Amino acid sequence: MLLCPATFRRFLLIHRRRWPLLFLVVSVVFFLSVSGYLEEFLSGLLSIFYFKPSHVSSPKVLNVPIPPFLLSPVSACSSPPFLLILVTSAPSHRDRRDAIRQTWGSLTSATASASLTLFVLAVPKSPEERAALMHEAVTHRDIIQANFTDSYRNLSLKTITGLTWALDKCRGARYLLKTDDDVFVNTLFLTQFLRGESGLQYMGRLHWYVTPFRDPDNRHYISRELYSGSYFPPYCSGTGYVLSHEAAGLILEQVGSGPWPEVEDVYVGILAQAAGIAPRHVAKIAGSMSVPHSSCCYRTMFTSHGMTPKGMQEAWNMLKEAEDHWCPSGVMLYCKFFGVFVENGGTLVH
Ligand SMILES: *[C@@H]1O[C@H](CO)[C@@H](O)[C@H](O)[C@H]1NC(C)=O
Ligand SMILES: *[C@@H]1O[C@H](CO)[C@@H](O)[C@H](O)[C@H]1NC(C)=O
Repeated sequence: MLLCPATFRRFLLIHRRRWPLLFLVVSVVFFLSVSGYLEEFLSGLLSIFYFKPSHVSSPKVLNVPIPPFLLSPVSACSSPPFLLILVTSAPSHRDRRDAIRQTWGSLTSATASASLTLFVLAVPKSPEERAALMHEAVTHRDIIQANFTDSYRNLSLKTITGLTWALDKCRGARYLLKTDDDVFVNTLFLTQFLRGESGLQYMGRLHWYVTPFRDPDNRHYISRELYSGSYFPPYCSGTGYVLSHEAAGLILEQVGSGPWPEVEDVYVGILAQAAGIAPRHVAKIAGSMSVPHSSCCYRTMFTSHGMTPKGMQEAWNMLKEAEDHWCPSGVMLYCKFFGVFVENGGTLVH
């Protein structure tokens, strides 16, 4: 039946009594989809379509083909955190790393969040930058570095390096969060949420049905040799995704000798699918969205992307001041509705 305005009007007239019900259904669906709860529900069904991994214990010996570590802050993990946060960062982003160190990254295994934040970098091109990074690493002891060229195109290698280090040198960490240096993380609330979870987990802002870029000039170009499908498997935005320890182990077992797709979040999604781990949408992880600059949004959402060092400081102060502050229950809808999408070097935006 063709739904022309006339038939629609007739339909509405006949069902006049049911308008309130219709309105209610439409509002509920609208609320659920804008807030992301509908996606949370739908992503829960994804695992039906994934084969189940045959074993869940993480591998004893990791055989991941990555260059040797140059910096390995093992002492930082002497008392393992509940949540280990791996921030992929670029050598020139010292200001962003400092902002994270002074704000949400300042929490340790000994605080209520029981989190630990480390940065993952490779080798800068200039000798000056190399020296500066070495100095920074000696001062803060929070930098993981492996011997390869630090570049945007090596981002997948950076992520795999961080995850490998975590499983090798920080085995006690129950969960891993991979994020970027322009993301604000509500460390305390995220760990509180994760304490209620269990099993194999790969969670974040889910991207469905993304088509690979086949134009070689595009920054996110991917050749048919690297990935031949017309769509990527569902994957979590690289601005912040959580892996349980076991899930990370199974994902790393799938890493081939390369070359690898350059976009790291897509690559992890491909590996997860090969490992039989379905990604799960978590509405409070904002993906490439920057939430409105308000204390209730920083309290409600687990992440916010596209933050400047100054914005990060302000968000942290707002969060601390609003510690016992009451926020209306529908605030997440507001945060998502009025958030803006921000693109950065590391992530695709949809
Ligand atoms: C790092 O890699 C460079 C070139 O690839 C090599 O010359 C150097 O010896 C390596 N350093 C270490 C400590 O492995
Ligand atoms: C990635 O790192 C490797 C190892 O250092 C280097 O040979 C390669 O040029 C880097 N790739 C890019 C695109 O920078």
